[in-house]
Amino acid sequence: MGDKLPIYADYNASTPVDPAVAEEMLPYLSKHFGNASSKHWYGYKSREAIELARIKVAKCIGCNPHEIVFTSGGTESNNFAVKGIAYANRHHGNHIITSSVEHGSILQPCQYLTTQGFELTVLPVDEYGIVSPDDVRNAIREDTILITIMHANNEVGTIEPIEIIGDIAKELGIYFHTDAAQTIGKIPVNVDDLSVDLLTIAGHKFYAPKGIGALYIREGTEIDALIGGNGQEFGLRSGTEAVALIVGLGKACQLVTGSLSEMSNHTYKLTQRLYELFVSDIPLVKLNGHPTERVPNTLNFSFPGVVALDLLTKSPEVAAMPLSECNDGACKISHVLKAMGIPENYALGAIRFSFGKWTVEDDVDDIVDFISSRYGSLLEKQQHIA
Ligand SMILES: Cc1ncc(COP(=O)(O)O)c(C=O)c1O
Repeated sequence: MGDKLPIYADYNASTPVDPAVAEEMLPYLSKHFGNASSKHWYGYKSREAIELARIKVAKCIGCNPHEIVFTSGGTESNNFAVKGIAYANRHHGNHIITSSVEHGSILQPCQYLTTQGFELTVLPVDEYGIVSPDDVRNAIREDTILITIMHANNEVGTIEPIEIIGDIAKELGIYFHTDAAQTIGKIPVNVDDLSVDLLTIAGHKFYAPKGIGALYIREGTEIDALIGGNGQEFGLRSGTEAVALIVGLGKACQLVTGSLSEMSNHTYKLTQRLYELFVSDIPLVKLNGHPTERVPNTLNFSFPGVVALDLLTKSPEVAAMPLSECNDGACKISHVLKAMGIPENYALGAIRFSFGKWTVEDDVDDIVDFISSRYGSLLEKQQHIA
């Protein structure tokens, strides 16, 4: 591989920090180090920066600043939404609705709650990974207190019909949460358009650092804090605020607010190119997820007859995400592809490519060259063994 770094095609896993974000954060790692609760100049400087960042985050999703609570990232925000709503509303009911393609940070807390007396309905999806709003409506019961369905899926990029589900939830007065970890910075995200009461933000998916996120909580929502202490973040998330990270999240949100269509056009062109090149190079390849109702930067392809991790291990020049791996004959397949009913032979060979701000056309061409040739030789080898 020489000195050249692998081509990064895993922006859905994490993004580099934007230099403008890093620059904005720097003073809060040195000169402005004060505790935001302190009643002196150093404290006031930190408090001011946090509140300015809160305004920027709120603007990015169309809410009021006091409806934003900073957290450590998407996982915490999802746990906070699910458990916080469940604990605060158990006097109204104990039933939660989610889908089979959610991130682990939704599915695990939902499953955990079933050990605490809550009941869970996990809705199926169609072949593209889409949840049916009719299924949501039919699953709702007298005792349903929360519906949580992701905005777009991290593995296949499919966008869920959140507006329609949000209207159903609103009509019936049920709290509705969406995990928008994979949509901020990729498609428009507005809490009123989506009719959501809670929305998860994960900073490192859109050029802020890892370890910072937020939960949007619509005013008037009954929710319990999961982290108690000295009452920071409106009493909903105690702990001394991570000022520099919060400032970084604010800046990343500001950048996203001003460049959404430019960014989505850029990544859409690249994924279209990837699609066309793969389909013409490898007739066997199959796209997973919805062909049009998807975030513009993401494509998930199945390369049948090989194991995804094996293909990527043979292609160290490409940093993408394998959706399956086999060790000692035991294979792990993505729960998302399984829920979509993708046949095992295809699910085993599924790879996600996700692009971002710094991906260029040459990267796409090189990815296709590397993967196509390695796929060909892996298939040939396997046919020999067979
Ligand atoms: C859809 C989705 N939700 C939640 C998360 C978790 O976010 P974080 O890594 O900030 O904990 C991720 C990250 O992979 C994600 O893709």
